[in-house]
Amino acid sequence: MIQYGVDFLWVLILISLGLSALAIFVSIFQHRRRHSKAASMPAVGDDVASEAARQVMREFEKNGQSVDAALVTWSPETLRKILTEDLPDAQVIVVSNREPYIHNEKNGEVELVVPASGLVAALEPITRACAGTWIAYGGGTADREVVDSNDRVQVPPGNPSYTLRRVWLTEEEYQGYYLGFANEGLWPLCHIAFTRPIFRDSDWEAYEAANRKFADTVVAEARNERPIVLVQDYHFALLPRMIRERLPEAIVITFWHIPWPNSEVFSICPWRERILDGLLGSSIIGFHTQFHANNFTESVDRFMESRIERADAAVSYGGQTTLVHAYPISIEWPAEMLKALPSVEQSQQHIRERFGIPADAKLCVGVERLDYTKGILDRFHALEELFIRHPETIGKVVFLQIAAPSRGTLPAYKQLHEECLRFAEELNERYGNETYRPVVLVAQHHSQKDVYEIYRAADICLVTSLHDGMNLVAKEFVASRDDEQGVLLLSTFAGASRELLEALIVNPYDAAMMSETMLQALTMGPEEQRGRMRRMRDIVRDNNVYRWAGSMLLDAARLRKRDELDRVTALSDRSVNGDNVVSMFERKQAVGFR
Ligand code: F6P
Repeated sequence: MIQYGVDFLWVLILISLGLSALAIFVSIFQHRRRHSKAASMPAVGDDVASEAARQVMREFEKNGQSVDAALVTWSPETLRKILTEDLPDAQVIVVSNREPYIHNEKNGEVELVVPASGLVAALEPITRACAGTWIAYGGGTADREVVDSNDRVQVPPGNPSYTLRRVWLTEEEYQGYYLGFANEGLWPLCHIAFTRPIFRDSDWEAYEAANRKFADTVVAEARNERPIVLVQDYHFALLPRMIRERLPEAIVITFWHIPWPNSEVFSICPWRERILDGLLGSSIIGFHTQFHANNFTESVDRFMESRIERADAAVSYGGQTTLVHAYPISIEWPAEMLKALPSVEQSQQHIRERFGIPADAKLCVGVERLDYTKGILDRFHALEELFIRHPETIGKVVFLQIAAPSRGTLPAYKQLHEECLRFAEELNERYGNETYRPVVLVAQHHSQKDVYEIYRAADICLVTSLHDGMNLVAKEFVASRDDEQGVLLLSTFAGASRELLEALIVNPYDAAMMSETMLQALTMGPEEQRGRMRRMRDIVRDNNVYRWAGSMLLDAARLRKRDELDRVTALSDRSVNGDNVVSMFERKQAVGFR
């Protein structure tokens, strides 16, 4: 009996100790919560937060990066530091089809245009920070007038910090390489938008010839045998191999800005092996998401005699190793553009006056190139559905669609343009009146400054791509809203939805669901908007474009270190082992490259 009493006492003591420990733990936890930013945002669940953290950790681990990198504040200075400390004397060469500055002739004057391109928006601040050389197709009508005898021009105009080297293409080359193979073949092949890819022999030949022309230019611009060449996008699948053949010691980092399809879809391409072989000339191939990186690796596995090192995220092919990594692209932060902009209130007033938006109507905006992958028509369907399901919203919502004309000579793009005009007109006739137009469609190019002002004036921004590698409009909208207001509707099929978890995520194929989400956005209170926007701004600030480029440059630095070790070891090995893939991997591990 006494024994039971003693046991019972012990149990009581242990329980009370346990409860006190629990109370201390809970109070510390609450204290920390009160002092963390996340706690001040009641609209966003903790589950979402910890899932986001886990996701970031997973991405880091997959990419072989240290979690500590997340603590770095990424800026142009960070990039310069990497270049001077980890890659001394490295020359950075960027290659893209689209040039960052286009000189056009307008009314006898030379007009400067910054193209509507996420690629340009992302790479421009990087090239400025690296003082590099940017090689691109000179497509402007006055481009030849402003270059020197080496086809170079210093940019940005007014405050030059890097060299733009223009490459000229004949009309035939441009048609076959850019419009044909790149945009009628690879573009629809890589996007799930149900537009049939078209492959022509003559386009392939032009694509190959244009890639060769760019390879010649890279070699001509390289100051030594070991530049770092950043090859951009699906216009240049053959270029990495061509560079590798002529500059074997170069570090070639290829970034594929659009999705990569699964191997079944990829197998449609008649030149699939050539494309993979070309890309595998790269030292590193980057995609926005791990999912697309995996699709690429699967395609290599299926069609090439190669060895896949999944744990290393590497492919070994033809005696060379290529890393296949995810590097989510982003934008400049803080956005330089904000300095030049009026306040949010002034922007709202100005944009509403400019486009005739009634004062009592909420403003929804869409901003992109007029492209069938962007889901513009699907947005119109959702708006119609909103009016049918919730007639009280008629007269209370205006949808402003800015659509920069793009690839306009191609039939699929012409057709889209016509359908957009027709649908917008129909909606305006059906639901509008003399003073109210529910859809304002402006199919014109707008400067970045204009676009940022439109973002700042918007109540809701719709990014409803049917398929998109990343989509930087979503991130730009977030960056533009330093007032922490505005709601982002974001397609689950855009890479940005992996990061911007506090956006309202939609399926653009589901008009009914999208219309209900629009209603949710239209009725969302300022506190919830603030909570969501603040979290998204934290994400874009931390994962800015300098981090995107910095991660690739750090990987490039590790590769260079590995190559140096390889060279030394190869000399001593050769007589004993011969060179083989296994020893390459072992040496790679030895210098700490995951
Ligand atoms: O989205 C893919 C992409 O190549 C981007 O990288 C770029 O911003 C956009 O398409 C521009 O397309 P284009 O140069 O054909 O106008």
